[in-house]
Amino acid sequence: MINTVLNTISVQKFLPQLGIQNEMPGIEKAYHKLVSKTGKGNDFLGWLTLPEEITPDQISDINKTAEYLASFSEIIVVVGIGGSYLGARAVIEALQHPFKSILPNQNTPLILFAGNSLGEDYHKALIDTLDIKEYSVIVISKSGTTTEPAIAFRILKEHCENKYGRTEAQKRIVAITDEKRGALKKLATEENYKTFVIPDDVGGRYSVLTPVGLLPIACAGLNIRKLLNGAINMRRMLLKNTTYDTNIAMQYALLRFLLYKEGKKMELVVAYEPQLFFFIEWFKQLFGESDGKQGKGIFPAGAIFSTDLHSLGQYIQEGERHLFETVLSVEKVSAHLPIPFDNNDLDGLNYLYQKTIHEINLTAEEGTRKAHISGNVPNFRITIPTITEETLGELIYFFEFSCALSGYLLNVNPFDQPGVEAYKSNMFKLLGK
Ligand code: PA5
Repeated sequence: MINTVLNTISVQKFLPQLGIQNEMPGIEKAYHKLVSKTGKGNDFLGWLTLPEEITPDQISDINKTAEYLASFSEIIVVVGIGGSYLGARAVIEALQHPFKSILPNQNTPLILFAGNSLGEDYHKALIDTLDIKEYSVIVISKSGTTTEPAIAFRILKEHCENKYGRTEAQKRIVAITDEKRGALKKLATEENYKTFVIPDDVGGRYSVLTPVGLLPIACAGLNIRKLLNGAINMRRMLLKNTTYDTNIAMQYALLRFLLYKEGKKMELVVAYEPQLFFFIEWFKQLFGESDGKQGKGIFPAGAIFSTDLHSLGQYIQEGERHLFETVLSVEKVSAHLPIPFDNNDLDGLNYLYQKTIHEINLTAEEGTRKAHISGNVPNFRITIPTITEETLGELIYFFEFSCALSGYLLNVNPFDQPGVEAYKSNMFKLLGK
């Protein structure tokens, strides 16, 4: 069952109808390039079929490993950066209790992250926490050579061996990396760590539905089968509908491309539910690394509303008109928290009596959409009935597919990231590597 709905009506009115008609052959060509695997970077299209190809045995191996780690861990530290980090965090933070870390008697371990920055205070605080907690480590790196996770892992490995002894540490560490290459693969083989493989034909930012995302997500107690089912549903819908009029990924990719050509160079992805913060971070990497090359590409930005309406709202309404918004609109939440009646009504809120916070949130969303459209900010709306594993799976696949189409419209390779190397080579030179 497909739940995610793309509302493009308020975007189309910012574009000349003729422009859309003229570009339709272009998007249909991009679509055929993608599904026939004949476009740029076609050796990195493993993600296209991944959700359907993963076998029950592979899922069971991931779930069993998660259960095993959870059986002795209060904390599981997930070490990784970029595509080896953001997908897992996006799904976990979207679905887990926001105050899990301070709630007693949790059935599943707390997932903490390391190696996604070079923050020394952060990593020292983590180590101090691990001194007094039972833990295990999942280290993720496709290349096996990325500096940030490698540094964090070296420190964590040493800590784990000192705390538990080498043999026990070997049971508490799981590696996810390339099948054959890289320093992490070598280390994992030498230490006899349980290992999962990142397929060769799946790039980091498209890897959330491989063990890279699935193992940490399963460790958090979430249902990876449902996540994959959501992706499969979206995949089937996108493959069944082969024309612009029926295919929501084609519509999204083409309209944002036309907006870009009209001078809308920045896409602000917005959620009104704060637990989607890291989903937006995942989106930013996906589109930023895929589109942003050869002097081209929409800059992906993110915001949580209404929070950021009190910081960015002024700019969005009246600043430079180079923005459009993509709103992740959640129709229903699981909680029910109505506004109480107050006899004195000193805060003047009795007019909201019995309305829920979510009803008010949806009204804020509607009011903001109208205001931003009248301020010349085109608005896509992606409607999500509720945040679940299934709908997140649908969204992940929808954005991956749309992102590949966007790259082809821009005539860039959506699956490489040559620009990421520049900072690394400078840093290595400065460090004397
Ligand atoms: O999308 C990408 O390929 C990158 O962002 C990588 O995911 C990131 O640099 C981490 O790389 P690795 O998994 O090789 O450590």
